[in-house]
Order: sequence, then C-alpha cells, then structure tokens
Amino acid sequence: MTPEEAKKKIISLTKQLNDYNYYYYVLNQPKISDFDFDMKLKELEKLENEFPQFRLPESPTQRVGGEPTKDFKTVRHSIPMLSLSNSYSKEDLYEFTNRIKKTIGFEPEYVTELKFDGLSISLSYSNGIFFQAVTRGDGEKGDDVTNNVKTIKSIPLKLRGNYPETLEIRGEIYMPHKVFERLNKEKEEIGETPFANPRNAAAGSLKLQDPNEVADRGLEAFFYYIPIKIEGINTHYELLQNAKKWGFRVSNHMALCKNINEIFEFIDDWDKERYNLPFDIDGIVIKVNDLKIQEQLGYTAKFPRWAIAYKFKAERVETKLLSIDYQVGRTGAVTPVANLKPVQLAGSTVKRASLHNADIIAQLDVRIGDTVYVEKGGEIIPKIVGVNLNKRPKDALQVKFIKNCPECGTPLVRKEGESAWYCPNEEGCPPQIKGKLEHFISRKAMNINSLGEGKIEMLYDNNLVSNIADLYDLTFDMLIGLEKIISSTEGKKSKKISFREKTTQNILNGIEQSKSVPFPRVLYAIGIRYVGETVAKKLAYHYKNIDTLMNATYDELINVDEIGDKIAQSIVEYFSKKEHINIINRLKAKGIQFSIETDIKKTKTSDKLKDLQFVVSGVFKNYSRDEIKNIIEDNGGKIVSSISSRTNYIIAGNNMGPVKKEKADRLGIPIISEEELAKMISLR
Ligand code: IVH
Repeated sequence: MTPEEAKKKIISLTKQLNDYNYYYYVLNQPKISDFDFDMKLKELEKLENEFPQFRLPESPTQRVGGEPTKDFKTVRHSIPMLSLSNSYSKEDLYEFTNRIKKTIGFEPEYVTELKFDGLSISLSYSNGIFFQAVTRGDGEKGDDVTNNVKTIKSIPLKLRGNYPETLEIRGEIYMPHKVFERLNKEKEEIGETPFANPRNAAAGSLKLQDPNEVADRGLEAFFYYIPIKIEGINTHYELLQNAKKWGFRVSNHMALCKNINEIFEFIDDWDKERYNLPFDIDGIVIKVNDLKIQEQLGYTAKFPRWAIAYKFKAERVETKLLSIDYQVGRTGAVTPVANLKPVQLAGSTVKRASLHNADIIAQLDVRIGDTVYVEKGGEIIPKIVGVNLNKRPKDALQVKFIKNCPECGTPLVRKEGESAWYCPNEEGCPPQIKGKLEHFISRKAMNINSLGEGKIEMLYDNNLVSNIADLYDLTFDMLIGLEKIISSTEGKKSKKISFREKTTQNILNGIEQSKSVPFPRVLYAIGIRYVGETVAKKLAYHYKNIDTLMNATYDELINVDEIGDKIAQSIVEYFSKKEHINIINRLKAKGIQFSIETDIKKTKTSDKLKDLQFVVSGVFKNYSRDEIKNIIEDNGGKIVSSISSRTNYIIAGNNMGPVKKEKADRLGIPIISEEELAKMISLR
C-alpha cells in the first residue's frame, strides 16, 4: 500500500469506527457486530503501526496505551466545580421553588434529571479534540486522569457535527451493576475485601495507575452540565440535546417541568423505578432551564442557586432476625449471614442479609428474635443497619460469634488488624478444598471447562481429589462410572451426573490441555491469598519463574512495583508451608508451566546484538518497555535514549512519538517491531 493509500484508509477507518461507537454507546443503536468491529480495529491498528505518521489523535486505538501514572498531576479547574445543595423532603423543594419565584417574579421552567451516584468529572476539548479529564477534587483543583478516562469507550475523543471551538463538559463516571458484581466476585475469589458499593468501585478504578487495568473495569459516564456560554443556546435542555449531537452520552431520563407538582411526579416515579436501572442513582437533580435566569439567580459560595438535589431515602424495612448462618469461603474467611422473615424491599423479596463480620454484629448488638432494619442503599446485597429496640422480645438471644469452623470444627483464628475470622484448616476443611479446586479450574485460571462445581464435588466426595495436584493423577479407570444425583432445588429439576466414556475423556483432555497454560495464569490459579490476576502477572514477569519467586524475601517483594505489605506477607507465608511446596513440586513434575518461556527469552543471554545501539520507544504488546530493554542488554545490545547517527535500530511500539519517527526517517535508521527484535535474537 502506498503511503497516500494508507493515509486515506486510516482516515476512513478511524471515522467509521468512531461512528460505530457513537451509535452503540450514545444512541444505543448498534450498527455492526462486535466481531466485525474488532476486525476493523485490528486493520486500523496494523496500518497505524506501519504508518504511525498518519495516526489520528481521535483514533480508537489510542484509548488504551497511555503510560502508567504513579502520581496524578493536580490541575486547577478553569471554572470551579461546584456541588449542589441537598434536600431530603418535599418541603425543602417548596422552599427552593418559592425562593426562585420570589427573586424573579414568576415560576420558571425546570429540568429534572437523575442524580447519578458516581464521581464527577470535567472534560476539556479544543477544536473538537479531547485533551484533558480532571476529577472534582476539592472543587478548585482536581487530579488529571486523562489517560484513564480515555479508556471509557463512550467518551468521544473527537466531537461530531457543529461543535464549539472550546468546550468544557461535566458529568458522572459510574460503574454499572453488572460490572460491579463481576468485579466483587473476582475480589472475593482471591480473598480481597470487596468494594462496598459501585461508587467506591468506580473511584478505585479511576485512580488505578495502569490505563490497561482501567479499561477492564467497564466504567461508564453520563454528561449533565456545560459551564460555559455557547452562542445560540439559551436553555440547559438545549445544551444537553446539543451535547448528545456532539457525541456525549446524555441520559434520556429527564423531563421539562412547569411547576412543583410535575417535579414531584418525576421524583415519585423514579423513587420506584430506580431499582430497575442498571446503575445506581441517589436522587433527582432539579435545574432552572433558562440560562439567563440561571445567571440572574447566581451562586452562593458553594452551590448554584438555580439547582438543587433531592436525595432519595434509602429504602428500609423492618423484619425479624430468625437465625444466623456462617459461610466458609475458599480462603477460609467466615462470613455471618442473617436469615430473615421474608420481606418486600425495593421490588424483591429479601430472606437473607449480610452481617459482614463479628465487629458489625457486636456494634449493632443484634440478637436472634430482634426486629431489625434492613436497607438496600447503594449496595446490591441488603444489609442490617439497626435494631428496633422497642420490639426486642425478652428472650432475644445474644449472638455469640462462633469459635469453631461450622464445616470442620477447627478453632477459628483472627489476624491482627483484620476483621474476619478464618478457619486455618486449609488442607482439611471441605469448602476451602472445593473452593480452591473450583478457583484452579476456572476460566481465568487453568480454564479446565470440562470440570465444573458439580464434578469437582463428585471427585472430592469420592476421595479422588483433595488438592489441585491430585487432578493430574486422575486416570480413566478412576473416573469412569462415577455417578451423582443432584436433588431438586427451587425451580430446578433434579439432575443426574454420570461419567461415561465421553465425559471421562473430556475431563482428562481438559486437564492435559491445562499443562500449556502460561505461568502468570498458573500463579493466579494456585490461589495465593491477595494474588489476583494482575498481581500474578506482575510477579510472573518480574520473577520469571516460581523458584525465584519462592525464594524472594518480604523486603524484596515489597520493592516490586505495586506489591504492598499485605500481598508480600501473604506470598512469604504461602511458600513457608511445606504442603504448598509439595503441591508445586508435584505440579512441576506433571509439566505445568512454572516459568515465562517465550521465543524472545529462550535465547536469553547471547551476544547476538553486540556492538548495536538501540532506542526503545512507545508502548509494547507483549512486554513492558523495561523488559524490552533488558532483553536487548541480555543479548549484548546497548540502549541509548536519543536517536543519533550512531543508532542502529529503533524498536517501536504503539504511540511512538512523531518527532522520533521523523528523525529516524531523516537519518535512515530502521524502525522495527518487538516481533522483529525477537526474530533478530533467535534467527541470526
Ligand atoms: S449538576 C453546578 N446534574 O451530584 C451544578 N450533578 O451533589 C453541577 N450529580 O457534584 C452539577 N447527577 O457529581 C448535576 N444530573 C446531575 C447529576 C449531578 C449526579 C452529582 C455531581 C455533583 C453532585 C452534587
């Protein structure tokens, strides 16, 4: 392809893909399948790598790829980010509208909107191109989170249509319920404390250092305020409709209200309907529509006088606490769960509620037989928030947190500074054993999908497996003919699982295939507490193999990027147990991957690059920049930071700067990819 043709194609693909995104995210009208979208994105990515000089700033390939940020830069807002005054009752709203009526002499039109429960963000655009995203911070100054916000696919990198030359727009970043549930499930699986609610999860995600990880968090955004004047636009409603045309995601759930009764109608509808939304709202925002009237009403030191937030009361009901169950998870953590007299709350029947831990039970002084208050606020799982002491029966039983594991009887232990009690009988406690096996075979770990929860239970019940290494000792004869009837539960029929020839072979094949699962996932699969997918990846690439990791001291571990005290302690503790070393040795003997083996590293030390000078630029697919540098040095090459006539090669990833590219072209220095570097090492 000639450069001219490539340029044309890059421009057209960028526009097409951005259009598809707009239809999908803003208008909710998908125009193309995910597969076709990905194919086009790949095509664009390939062309941009070949002709980086034609890559456009609004290219969809530029959403992820920014460098990790250690500390976010503090930025002053050009226009302060004010908050809203809150109201909790309809009387407060009467006061608000009456005050306005008195100031301007008549009843103005209002816009009512949902009050999204997330984090406010301010985006800036210049000539239609997105250039900065800043958090609210203290209202005067916030954190520059541009690279992280870029990963939110519904946020336009380039505006559409007839947009103003400069634009600042404000909105809310939030985490949808589905994503929140998935994230917390993953956290629980690795023994981390789950996020309390979607807002906290969104806040934590937006402040992650690596944009690649933020991209995985599925954040979303709605926009609701433009703090600048735009010629020809006279109302807030028109502003938002225009914002939609420019490419922003604006909620359709808003209304124009002529009087307070229409405002109340909107509030009452959404107080009920809010439970059917796929995200959290915590109230309704009421704004004067006319921008001139807004200006006339002005601001107090903290709030606009033309808007107010009406906060919903968290829905709360009373019911009786019947008993408390204790559940033991994969990590041995014991969670108390309240059994309640069934009660209707926020559109569903609630029978169980979270009690979190022993401290919360003591704090609430909740007793069996008590009438308790149950609330469904931002959180998905209802929780007990208090006790109606007036209704306490004389014989209400004080709750004594159990001292022994409900599953295996072992005395529970509690670590200093932690609120959860644990069953320490890792090797003998059934839910811990089964939980660890289930985690090991799960999709993101060893991905043995021919096994599942039911089959694991059968293997365990038949004394065929009691740890992850046992899976690799299973034989055809051990499995064939195993049977189990799963009795019917609510709404589900009873089911018989039996291992016939095909099932047995599938299971054994799945186990065999898992031997090629790469080291980072194996490290995640073995289930060290606090070592989730990302941490496992970091550790695997840092230590390269399990033996080096096993021998790492606490002090060494804590010096690895993003490894903190809790993780370091947990790793040291894990490898100090001979049972674990035994399991790892057995897995090793069966051929499980316990080191990073890639083409590029097989020839790890050589002098194939002797006397050659390299400049490394951009973001790479398979390695971090430091890893590329190490590989070059391990093979005798020299790294230099700037291009000169003595430079032999430039290793370029995504995002190589245009200045470097221009200089390399001028001096005739070849620009090669990480794959080409790999070839140089193994083929020369
Ligand atoms: S308008 C100057 N509209 O609520 C007025 N805010 O408690 C700017 N929020 O800081 C805000 N949904 O983070 C506005 N539809 C909405 C909103 C909204 C959520 C948040 C925003 C604000 C906070 C005030």
